[in-house]
Amino acid sequence: MTEGVQTSPAFTKRVFSGIQPTGHLTLGNYLGALKRFAEVQEQDYETIFCIVDQHAITATLQDPAALARATRELTAGFIASGIDPEKSVLFNQSQVAEHAQLAWIFNCVARMGWMQRMTQWKDKAGKNSQNASLGLFAYPALMAADILVYHATHVPVGEDQKQHVELTRDIATKFNHDYGVDFFPIAEPVIEGAATRVMSLRDGSKKMSKSDPSDMSRINMTDDADTIASKIRKARTDPDALPSEAKGLEDRAEARNLVNIYAALSDQSVEDVLRDVGGKQFSEFKPMLSDLAVAKLSPISTEMARLMEHQDEIDTILRKGAEQARAIAAPILSRTYEIIGMVR
Ligand code: TYM
Repeated sequence: MTEGVQTSPAFTKRVFSGIQPTGHLTLGNYLGALKRFAEVQEQDYETIFCIVDQHAITATLQDPAALARATRELTAGFIASGIDPEKSVLFNQSQVAEHAQLAWIFNCVARMGWMQRMTQWKDKAGKNSQNASLGLFAYPALMAADILVYHATHVPVGEDQKQHVELTRDIATKFNHDYGVDFFPIAEPVIEGAATRVMSLRDGSKKMSKSDPSDMSRINMTDDADTIASKIRKARTDPDALPSEAKGLEDRAEARNLVNIYAALSDQSVEDVLRDVGGKQFSEFKPMLSDLAVAKLSPISTEMARLMEHQDEIDTILRKGAEQARAIAAPILSRTYEIIGMVR
């Protein structure tokens, strides 16, 4: 990862990131987040990863059994993607109360205007904002607390979360300024690689998302080989052959998306991929892409299914991770209270 210039050297290099347990994991979550988490775990950072179950009830209250299942399935997804609970702290948010406690302080730091500018709030609340939950509006302050309660310095995310990490920086800056301290780090969003914004397979202008009503728009990490092949075969494309250079993809959102996915799955640059496949028709490229996707994803989905047979082990991992997380978060929260003047 690139080094941020504004991060004070006084802070330990620490990564924090989270994923919501809503619905099934998608290829977008894998390429934009999980695969990169597994890479950064092997670098020179402390790594903390979180299943953000408190975020997962902001849009709608979920069926309790579905939320519990999604939490365990996502934990299995983290582990199957290479997150090692011996190397990284892995836990679910609601087991560490310090997130919600710091979020309250940040609700008082963040301004209404900042929150109203969040594009995800505007998209998710839509025209019916009066009926959206207060939690959905305040969600970015909770996300800032997730990051800052660990003094995390680097936040690997997909492009859609960039604005929220920038808000986190604004909250840290205002807190530090208002109390005259250099207490919270100014965390860097880390948005790198060929697949920081994986698009829908049906519409190259829309993000691939768990919440898209069409299942054909996304590849789920739990899809079997036939389903993956059929979704890629039916993915929208244009009639032209693939170009030999990235410039040739500029006005071809669907073609660009499939090439980006291929590049990310095969750990190559887009340029290298196009050097090999330039001139090919989609009828030839799509089977190559589905073979690659099946080869990379099916070991993960098989391992997820295996882990899901051992829910006690998953729960033990989450409890142990939560204990480790609390050991880092509790002193940071205490110090925050002292800075504010809340008597301990
Ligand atoms: P969430 O759960 O929507 O997504 C989890 C991660 O997956 C990335 N992602 C994608 N990347 C590329 N292409 C896509 N189509 C795609 N869809 C999703 C997201 O960018 C994200 O990195 N608010 C966050 C969760 C969160 C968090 C945090 C993240 C809560 N607290 C603190 C970082 C730090 C969210 O809803 O992500």
